[in-house]
Parts: sequence; structure tokens; C-alpha cells
Amino acid sequence: MDERLPRGERAARGRGRHLLTGGLAILGALWAQLLAADPDPRDVGPDRVDVSSYPPEYRERYQVFSVRCSKCHTLARPINARIRGDEWKRYIKKMIRRPGSGINEESGQQIYEFLKYYSTRQDEPPGSADGGVR
Ligand code: HEC
Repeated sequence: MDERLPRGERAARGRGRHLLTGGLAILGALWAQLLAADPDPRDVGPDRVDVSSYPPEYRERYQVFSVRCSKCHTLARPINARIRGDEWKRYIKKMIRRPGSGINEESGQQIYEFLKYYSTRQDEPPGSADGGVR
């Protein structure tokens, strides 16, 4: 299309196009990187639980949970999972079985107690966490 343009200018335009495609390629690569670096969607959300109002035994269980279940993924994954009550048993078994989980039956049981309690509380409307006292 630029048949009559002097050589230099044609070359310059060509370079411009290259720059543009190059730029787009770089942007694309960056975007891909961003997506790759993006946390697993299952890890989106808070990565801790405020257990200050929990009964003491659950506060202890939370400690076990927060240490044991943040080894391979963020704690946000179990915290934000839509897993409720005794559904947790299956998941905890699955996690314990993973090589190198470092979770024994006993801590598994404590974590289970914590998550069952925590997930039940999650379903309660705000304000009723104190037992519905108003
Ligand atoms: C040895 C590594 C390891 C440990 C320790 C571990 N997990 Fe996981 N967890 C994984 C891997 C890998 C995945 C992703 C694959 C999968 O979903 O099975 C995962 C996924 C999950 C998921 C998402 C499951 C789903 O289907 O979306 C939950 C919830 C979870 N883990 C909870 C826990 C809890 C609770 C603990 C502590 C008892 C724990 N994890 C400890 C490795 C681990």
C-alpha cells in the first residue's frame, strides 16, 4: 500500500508495525503471567479467622488448623471453601493422605472439630454468633 513511499519511510512503518505486534505480544505475555501469578480462585478471600470470640478449646484447635492446613496452599482455601459441617471429614482425610501432609489422626480430629464449628458459624446470620442474644 505504501508503494510510492521512499525506502526509509517504508522500513520505518514496517518497524512501527513490528513494534506494535511486539508490544501486543509482550502485553499478552504479561497478561498470561499475571493470570498465572493470580492466586488460585479457591484461595481468594480472608486467610485467617478471628477466633477471639470462640470458646477456648476451639481457639486451640484453630492453632492446629492454621499451622497444618497452610503448608501446601494458603489457609484461605479451607477458610473460604463452601464445605460445611461433617462434609469436612472427607476433605481432611484427603489432605492427610497427601504425601508430606504431616497431619496425624489426632490433629486431623482437632482440625475437623474446628472446621465443623467454624463452618456452622459461617452460616449463621451476623449477630447470632453470640448465641442469638440481642
Ligand atoms: C500435603 C499438602 C497439603 C496439606 C498439608 C493440606 N492440603 Fe489441602 N490441598 C492440597 C492440594 C494439592 C490441593 C488441590 C488439589 C485438590 O483439590 O485435591 C488441596 C485442596 C484443598 C481444598 C480445596 C478442595 C476443593 O475441592 O476445592 C481444601 C478445602 C483443602 N485443601 C483443605 C485443607 C485442609 C482443611 C487442610 C488441613 C487439614 C489441608 N487442606 C492441608 C494439599 C494439601
